[in-house]
Amino acid sequence: MKRETVIVLDFGGQYNQLIARRVRECGVYCELKPCSTPLEELREAAPAGLILTGGPASVYAPDAPRADPGIFGLGVPVLGICYGCQLMAQYLGGSVVPAEADAAREYGRTAARFDTGCALFDGLPDEGVVWMSHGDYMARVPEGFRSTASSAACPNAAIADEGRGFYGVQFHPEVSHTERGADMIRNFLYKVCKASGSWSMGGYRAEAVESIRRRVGDGRVLLALSGGVDSSVAAALLSEAVGERLTAVFVDHGLLRKGEAEEVEREFSGRSLNFIRVDARDRFLVKLAGVTEPERKRRIIGEEFIRVFEAEAKKLGRVDFLAQGTIYPDVIESGAGDAAVIKSHHNVGGLPDYVDFREIIEPLLMLFKDEVRALGRELGLPDSLVMRQPFPGPGLAIRIIGDVTEDKLRSLREADAIFREEIAAAGCERPDQYFAVLTNTRSVGVMGDGRSYDYTLALRPVRTGDFMTADFARLPWDLLDRASTRIVNEVKGINRIVYDITSKPPATIEWE
Ligand code: XMP
Repeated sequence: MKRETVIVLDFGGQYNQLIARRVRECGVYCELKPCSTPLEELREAAPAGLILTGGPASVYAPDAPRADPGIFGLGVPVLGICYGCQLMAQYLGGSVVPAEADAAREYGRTAARFDTGCALFDGLPDEGVVWMSHGDYMARVPEGFRSTASSAACPNAAIADEGRGFYGVQFHPEVSHTERGADMIRNFLYKVCKASGSWSMGGYRAEAVESIRRRVGDGRVLLALSGGVDSSVAAALLSEAVGERLTAVFVDHGLLRKGEAEEVEREFSGRSLNFIRVDARDRFLVKLAGVTEPERKRRIIGEEFIRVFEAEAKKLGRVDFLAQGTIYPDVIESGAGDAAVIKSHHNVGGLPDYVDFREIIEPLLMLFKDEVRALGRELGLPDSLVMRQPFPGPGLAIRIIGDVTEDKLRSLREADAIFREEIAAAGCERPDQYFAVLTNTRSVGVMGDGRSYDYTLALRPVRTGDFMTADFARLPWDLLDRASTRIVNEVKGINRIVYDITSKPPATIEWE
């Protein structure tokens, strides 16, 4: 049986991923597809509904993104959002005009009135705040439509043709600034598309296991396990599907945080899969010796990782499938459209071509990060693994400014562990990412009666939703005090602690 799916057609708006998220949060599976997706493909997918997203263009721009107008003949309900709404109005005979007067343009929070007789606003208050962001506006609604919401500058802030199941909103219901916006999306899904809401992690797990089994048959699968959330969840899912025909290769490059390699090994060596921990610590350190330039460090680590993986793959002989923990944002952020191209390059930084794989398996390809976490829990992975904060592939090497040595790694690992322990013990709200950075600045200190000349360590806790922008986290002073005192007392080689109070931009989260 086909999975109930809503398709979100992407016209390039900044909130498009958020629309997909909202739909899934309502228990309906949904996929984001380019607006250029051929009509035939959409027909075959037989979606329960279509959502047309916003976009930066004006429908009048010569290169404005378009969809096949045939989508309105598929007999499927459509919700147009902002640009998507204007495009729908334009295709179906309404008129969209540029707002000449500034007063008619609306950006940001805007008060609106709703017709609660419209399915989209059913059960909601008849007025509220919506998030507007548009230059053009709908001057005349298309034949068969009526206006179902208005704002001071926008008489047709929402439109509906209930007979055909076509709805449009000029504002963005997907962003949290729109009051009850999620309920409007829910109404579209359940009251208009008549969705059954069958999307759940338990269901996904069963389906994914079944489909992996069908695909792999009696073949063998190799997975590069980094210890991060995505590849760990992929490993657990694949292990449930193919058991001992899965080999997870975990490359310990010696740049992991304290206790991390052991934790990954503990978790996976207890499962019915072949787990190989490759101790490649020396190889990496030798290659990194004396290297100070951040990009060179990254390149060296990326390449060395591949060399180690290749060597292990060769030892195993023929493996039919290569598995990766690529997730949905990886694909979308890489400018999707051709997922097949992305998968061989993305994520693993170009795995070896000549290792003989028949196919690539990416069982998390359709999941968002928090869905991956939910699936991990569903598969019985511990929270310590599933809720792990992001950790860069090059590991601690890019948190040591200047050259990387065993001594510096040891100091940083200890200091970072203390910082994490103190944050856990304080019971305060955890920052989204927090770690220590070993700078290459040395300064004079006094320890007991003696002089010290040791390194300065920076603490870097940040608050962020998307990791594209971030603000430094305001941790309580007494927590910082405890962490600082413990680090300088317990960790050799560090005699001064500083607090990184820069946002991103202009800084980045990592120092290198
Ligand atoms: P920046 O430093 O660019 O980091 O603000 C944004 C987020 O990405 C993580 N990061 C990486 N993750 N490989 C990764 O898998 C990398 O090379 C890498 N560099 C940065 C960083 O930890 C933060 O969460």
